[in-house]
Amino acid sequence: MTQEFCHVQHVQQVADNVFVLTFSSEEISESIQPGQFINIKVNEGTEPLLRRPFSVYRTDRKQVQIIFNVIGKGTAALRKKNKDDWLDVLGPLGVPFGFDNDDYKTAILIGGGLGVAPLPILTKSLKKIGKGVVTFLGSRSSNHMAENHLENLNVATDDGSKGFHGTVVDLAKERLSVDMFARPKIFACGPTPMLRAVASMSNERDIPCEASLEGPMACGFGICQGCPVELIGSGKKYALVCKDGPVFDIRTIRI
Ligand SMILES: Cc1cc2nc3c(=O)[nH]c(=O)nc-3n(C[C@H](O)[C@H](O)[C@H](O)COP(=O)(O)OP(=O)(O)OC[C@H]3O[C@@H](n4cnc5c(N)ncnc54)[C@H](O)[C@@H]3O)c2cc1C
Ligand code: FES
Repeated sequence: MTQEFCHVQHVQQVADNVFVLTFSSEEISESIQPGQFINIKVNEGTEPLLRRPFSVYRTDRKQVQIIFNVIGKGTAALRKKNKDDWLDVLGPLGVPFGFDNDDYKTAILIGGGLGVAPLPILTKSLKKIGKGVVTFLGSRSSNHMAENHLENLNVATDDGSKGFHGTVVDLAKERLSVDMFARPKIFACGPTPMLRAVASMSNERDIPCEASLEGPMACGFGICQGCPVELIGSGKKYALVCKDGPVFDIRTIRI
C-alpha cells in the first residue's frame, strides 16, 4: 500500500448521476488486483475529513479510473474535479477476487447498480487467463446503467426500460436454469439486498461465490475497527471489510 498524490485527467458523465474519474498513477495501475480498492482523500481540508473508498473500475498503462454516483460530500467533490487537480490516494487496499485458480471454468459476474465498478478489470483479467465470462448487470433503468467494458452481457432493469424486467438475480436464475455453464463460479458486487439474493441462489445451486462488500469505512486498512462484518461459524465472530475483504466467500459471512 502506498500514498500517492495523483493528477486528475478528467471526469466524464456516463449515465444518469454516474461519473467516471480518470487519474494518473503508474504504480496503482500496475499493482491493483481486481476487487481491491483505493481510499481517496477528496479535498485538502477537513470537508469531508475521512477518505472515501472506491473500487478500481479500469486501468490503462499509467491511468486509473473509478466510477461513482454522487451521493454526498465526497462524491460531489470528486464530480467537480478538473484536469490537473490533485487527489490524495491510498492503495491498493484489501483482498482481491480469487479468480486466478483452477477451481472453476466459467466466471458468472453479477453487478447491481454501481456494483458494476470492479467488474471491467475483473473481466480483463479473466480473459487474459482464458476463463469463460458471462455477465449479469442490473440497474434502476436504462438511463442509470454503466454497461461498457463487460463481456457476454445480460441486463435487467427494475422498470423494464432495457433487457429483463426485474432484478438481476432473477435474470441470472432464469439463465442458470436453462444454460449449463461449465464449472461456474459467481463473482458479485452490489447492494446488500442483491447480495443476499445472490447468496441464497449460490447456496441453492451449490455454486461457489465471492462477493465484494461496499459498506461504510473510515481508515481503510484495519486500524479503526469501523467496518465489521459478521462471520458464520464457530471461530472468529467478525472480520474487517477493509482488511479481510472487501471480497469474501459469500458462505462465510452474514450479510
Ligand atoms: C470497498 C468499497 C468500494 C467502493 N467502491 C465504490 C465505487 O466503485 N463506486 C461508488 O460509487 N461507491 C463505492 N463505494 C461506496 C462509496 O465509498 C460511498 O458511496 C462514498 O463513500 C460516499 O461518499 P459521499 O461523501 O459522497 O457520501 P457520504 O456523505 O459519506 O454519505 C451520504 C449518505 O450515503 C450513505 N452512504 C455512504 N456510503 C455508503 C455506502 N457505502 N453504502 C450505503 N450508504 C452509504 C451515508 O450513510 C449517508 O447517509 C465503495 C465502498 C467500499 C467500502
Ligand atoms: S475502515 Fe478502519 S478498520 Fe476497516
